[in-house]
Amino acid sequence: MQIKTIGVLTSGGDAPGMNAAIRSVVRTAIYRGMNVKGIVNGYEGLFNKEVIDMTDRSVSDIIHRGGTVLGTARSEKFKTKEGVKEAAQCCRELGIDGIVVIGGDGSFRGARDLSLEGIPCVGIPGTIDNDIASTEYTIGFDTAMNTACEMTDRLRDTAQSHHRCSVVEVMGRHAGYLAYEVGTAVGATAILVPEIEYDLQKDVIDRMNAAKEDGKKHFIIVVAENLCDTNALSKEIEEKTGVETRPTILGHIQRGGNPTVRDRVMATKMGFYAVELLKDGIGNRVVAYKNGEILNYDIYEALNMKKTLNADDLHIAHRVSR
Ligand code: F6P
Repeated sequence: MQIKTIGVLTSGGDAPGMNAAIRSVVRTAIYRGMNVKGIVNGYEGLFNKEVIDMTDRSVSDIIHRGGTVLGTARSEKFKTKEGVKEAAQCCRELGIDGIVVIGGDGSFRGARDLSLEGIPCVGIPGTIDNDIASTEYTIGFDTAMNTACEMTDRLRDTAQSHHRCSVVEVMGRHAGYLAYEVGTAVGATAILVPEIEYDLQKDVIDRMNAAKEDGKKHFIIVVAENLCDTNALSKEIEEKTGVETRPTILGHIQRGGNPTVRDRVMATKMGFYAVELLKDGIGNRVVAYKNGEILNYDIYEALNMKKTLNADDLHIAHRVSR
């Protein structure tokens, strides 16, 4: 299939580095002699036919910016069969022969469905959660980890001054990758993640009490979102340890900010790779990072892969935090 014009869109939660990926996609495609249309606000932009003709200059001065210049959305309509058919028809009317989709698992499902409707799509993993099984790395993860780490270091200053415990909730949707990395980096006394069962008494209270007896006066507990009620957890810790405890939900602050070097570089490589696939009419693929290499998988296969946190890694983090 001869691809003359590609579309590029960002979908789902924004992630730092998405702009660097858009830049790479646009410039690689133009270099390869294709036209590029930026689709505004994810799949919704297809229905509304909201597209921008991109040039090399449209993506100037964005490599270092967080968020996504194209805008993003979670489209309910696109989840239906009729929605996908309509979106494919809109692509035909807009003269879009193939699409690079930057987003998470939900966005890839859409890319697979659209590919099956005759519009080849290639996915680039972009989410701060790093929860896509087919890849060891997702764009935005490094920046979010570093932001959450910096914020928690600040909480530590005040926890240390007041001899308090700080319970910090980090994002991750239903995955604990962010919580694990941040918790390890800040030396948390306990890191609670959905992948690994925990016992509040044994894994938090007893550990805190033992360290307290040894003279430790301030504590950081990192908890992944959607695992428990962080405010209630904080109260319970205070009641059971006698250590004054404050909860902090870091929230969307983790999604913003300038991307780190790692996110910019990864986005640049993945954007290039995605266009190289699409230019030959190859669709229904996702770009992935494994063992230091960029490769690609069939989307269906990718969506059925499993990934989980290494319990030994969590054990090490806990072992050295006393
Ligand atoms: O997937 C990225 C993410 O930030 C998750 O960590 C979080 O659970 C979710 O998006 C929040 O979504 P929203 O921005 O729609 O509230």
